[in-house]
Amino acid sequence: MLQSWTTTTLFALLTTVVVGQTQITVNIGSPLQEIDGFGVSQAFGRAKEFFSTTPDPRQKGLDYLFNRTTGAGLTIIRNRIGSTDKDSILPRSFGSPSGTPAYVWDNDDSGQVWLSQQAKAYGVTTIYADAWSAPGFMKTNNNEANGGYLCGVSGHSCSSGDWRQAYANMLVQYVKYYIDAGTPVTHLGFLNEPDFVATYSSMQSDGNTAASFIPTLYNTLQSANITNVSLTCCDSIGWPGQRTMTSQLVNAGMEKYLSVITSHMYQGDPNSPISTKLKTWQTEACDLNSRWCATWYSNGGPCEGLTWANKIHTGIVNANLSAYIYWQGFEVNQPQASSYLVASDNKTVTPSGRLWAFAQWSRYVRPGAHRVSTSGTVNSVGYGAFKNTDGSVAIVFTNTGGGAQNVKIAFSGFTPTTSEAYLTDNSHTVASTPATLSGGAVTVSIPAHAVVTVQLNKAPALLSE
Ligand SMILES: *[C@@H]1O[C@H](CO)[C@@H](O)[C@H](O)[C@H]1NC(C)=O
Ligand SMILES: *[C@@H]1O[C@H](CO)[C@@H](O)[C@H](O)[C@H]1NC(C)=O
Ligand SMILES: *[C@@H]1O[C@H](CO)[C@@H](O)[C@H](O)[C@H]1NC(C)=O
Ligand SMILES: *[C@@H]1O[C@H](CO)[C@@H](O)[C@H](O)[C@H]1NC(C)=O
Ligand SMILES: *[C@@H]1O[C@H](CO)[C@@H](O)[C@H](O)[C@H]1NC(C)=O
Repeated sequence: MLQSWTTTTLFALLTTVVVGQTQITVNIGSPLQEIDGFGVSQAFGRAKEFFSTTPDPRQKGLDYLFNRTTGAGLTIIRNRIGSTDKDSILPRSFGSPSGTPAYVWDNDDSGQVWLSQQAKAYGVTTIYADAWSAPGFMKTNNNEANGGYLCGVSGHSCSSGDWRQAYANMLVQYVKYYIDAGTPVTHLGFLNEPDFVATYSSMQSDGNTAASFIPTLYNTLQSANITNVSLTCCDSIGWPGQRTMTSQLVNAGMEKYLSVITSHMYQGDPNSPISTKLKTWQTEACDLNSRWCATWYSNGGPCEGLTWANKIHTGIVNANLSAYIYWQGFEVNQPQASSYLVASDNKTVTPSGRLWAFAQWSRYVRPGAHRVSTSGTVNSVGYGAFKNTDGSVAIVFTNTGGGAQNVKIAFSGFTPTTSEAYLTDNSHTVASTPATLSGGAVTVSIPAHAVVTVQLNKAPALLSE
């Protein structure tokens, strides 16, 4: 058979395989979920550590996380509402729920007020404040650690009384302190991994238990005339657990009080939508077992940038997420852990491949953007398209395969007038790469093991950046 194939036929076949072009269509007129952004936390003293870092690495670290030109351009921070006698605004019991709480506010909050102000200077306006637990004296186990329940939630009463209103009052007081600090909290959560009993701050709940507290918290905010704080639930340890809790919340009628369903990914990544009309956020993610690395791609390991680019892609495009928040942002002298994006030894600063994975999204897919529908598949490449509030359009391509792909992007309901593209792979870091605009369509090459973000009709004010 081979003899009957001409050299020309073989050549044509090979070039089709190597540089064959796939066409996709982006339908700008059909909006899907709204995007709230991408972010990190500096909980458990890491904000204070960041603040105490020597000035040059500290500034570089802030730029890597939040600068939209030189860093990832993150747009969300997740702060921890403390529950220990060292970091809570309510460190001591006041006897009974009807007593008078003695709040303590140091205007520092373990460095998180500073972090919030720094983030704000870069334009971050989304602050998610989340409590890991109520103070111990409000709980069934009289301890802010080791699980236990909030006294008074369904099925869990205490001889000391029903502390639900006191816990809601404390959370609202925390919100007020942040308003006074000029960095208002926009999202408020009262649980963290309630399906995991930790030896540190932790409090148990399922969706039904949470439903016996949520209206109290909602009404307490309303009574304080704070109507612009979005309530979240439940920061489950994994997506399957949050799916179960969400169905309990929905059945209990909680969607009218809540704004965002929140989950972690330690026992299952977000891979398909959770059934709710509320937004969903991935609020804590990392690999807890690998050493810190700066690698973009080596073998698909859990510390690598491309691995995380693909997790973000899967979460946003396949699981309908509106936000993706990594665990920590910046840490000093912690080489044993890959749970943060930017490393420092207190002198130099090293960004990770994971930071650049976030940059490929967060610099171009901005808060208020809507994902839009697309059609067409590209071999080994996942992609999502987004319309920003400034009229620009971003399309993020994630190629987990070992071959380059050539893509022609056509549009419905949109006319591209300028096109740019940015590439991260093992030899590029958010570097400019060709995106050819012709006849209303854009052609771009997606190298192997790479992320390419195509940006169309960038706002004129940003064109010089
Ligand atoms: C970094 O160095 C400063 C002194 O410049 C010191 O105060 C701080 O504790 C150091 N940070 C860490 C995490 O070692
Ligand atoms: C981001 O970095 C650029 C380049 O260094 C700088 O001009 C700009 O002021 C920085 N933005 C912020 C908000 O600091
Ligand atoms: C809330 O606003 C109402 C109407 O403006 C006002 O009467 C009330 O005193 C306010 N409550 C608080 C707690 O500020
Ligand atoms: C929410 O409203 C309060 C007034 O109740 C205001 O002080 C605060 O700045 C607002 N928060 C945001 C994020 O705009
Ligand atoms: C995606 O999330 C939005 C809320 O952001 C919701 O209205 C919509 O129904 C969800 N879509 C799917 C397919 O779950």
